[in-house]
Amino acid sequence: MSKQILILPGDGIGPEIVAEARKVLETVNEQFSLGLVLSEALVGGAAIDATGVPLPAETLDAAQKADAILLGAVGGPKWDTNPDFQIRPEKGLLGIRSNLQLFGNLRPAILYPQLAHASTLKPEVVSGLDILIVRELTGGIYFGQPRGYRTKEGGVREGFNTYVYDENEIRRIGRVAFEAARARNKKLCSVDKANVLEVTVLWREVMNELSAEYPDVELSHMYVDNAAMQLVRAPKQFDVMVTGNMFGDILSDAAAMLTGSIGMLPSASLDANNKGMYEPCHGSAPDIAGQGIANPLATILSAAMMLRYSLGEGAAADKIEAAVSQVLDQNLRTADIMSEGMVRVSTSEMGAAVVKALQA
Ligand code: NAD
Ligand code: IPM
Ligand code: MN
Repeated sequence: MSKQILILPGDGIGPEIVAEARKVLETVNEQFSLGLVLSEALVGGAAIDATGVPLPAETLDAAQKADAILLGAVGGPKWDTNPDFQIRPEKGLLGIRSNLQLFGNLRPAILYPQLAHASTLKPEVVSGLDILIVRELTGGIYFGQPRGYRTKEGGVREGFNTYVYDENEIRRIGRVAFEAARARNKKLCSVDKANVLEVTVLWREVMNELSAEYPDVELSHMYVDNAAMQLVRAPKQFDVMVTGNMFGDILSDAAAMLTGSIGMLPSASLDANNKGMYEPCHGSAPDIAGQGIANPLATILSAAMMLRYSLGEGAAADKIEAAVSQVLDQNLRTADIMSEGMVRVSTSEMGAAVVKALQA
């Protein structure tokens, strides 16, 4: 039976990194007879330029029909000053997450041992690191109403957003996190700001209530400011972390650096039935776009997550992850993970090396 995979290259380095992940997918598609049918559509700034909106109806429709989606990245300075906030590339990405109810965002930060020296942290702090950040992705301050930007009487401008979660939204992401912890080392740290924000007082209450259903999982709570500090001080104290949309966004970028580079961190964004969109945690990197130097591994590893979580093809996913490890064993490094004595390669050389390792 064929499976429809929608590829959304997006902007900046998006098309460069997605091209490499596509080659990897095509390779395993053939090797494992997966029956994947790949197609592409416009999102983000590329869609604004072509159609006037960041999420054309055609793209949303294709996303809804697809079995899984692979996204590069969206955004860039070209669209950052658009006065209509609805016509921003990021709205395209947020629109897919929200319309498809992809509330469960898994961001695994794993240090490949070969990269222990690529991290800015001391090797002993990060070696053996394997943590999972579970981020709520369709609620919280990103989507809360009311929101806006306006000029008040007297000409004073104000901007406002609402940080709101109801207990059902908290419970469903909590379950994702407890289940993930149960399948790993059975430690879950819930990150909040319950000393200041009522919405996270509720968050903490619901996590405590859920904990009764998961007696085998050890639940702890941490304030987000401390969590940011602990992530760089002693990251291996964590197994699974669960948090809201905005805190998860920030903490996952910090966690990325523990793995050597943000170019190494994949993600899965899942709905209640494990249908999902897969994307690197990083953005469109306008500062290096068009130079062919971006690291495609986060996107390639996201494609592996897609095979595992949405398509039930764990063996193909394992093979891609092993191929990435082999390429690192061959000392091949893009600029962001380069260190002394290693061989510097371009985006496409890195992609080609992963394909070659798959074919070996
Ligand atoms: P960014 O993640 O794009 O870049 C931050 C830094 O990391 C840059 O120096 C960049 O060169 C580097 N970097 C990122 N990915 C890399 C890779 N694969 N290989 C090597 N280096 C890499 O974050 P930013 O600069 O804050 O944002 C740029 C644009 O991307 C913005 O428009 C933002 O909204 C958007 N963005 C999109 C997504 C997404 O589509 N999922 C995620 C984050 C940011
Ligand atoms: C991410 C990004 C997005 C987010 C932006 C581009 C909307 O930073 O996926 O981490 O904040 O969720
Ligand atoms: Mn982010």
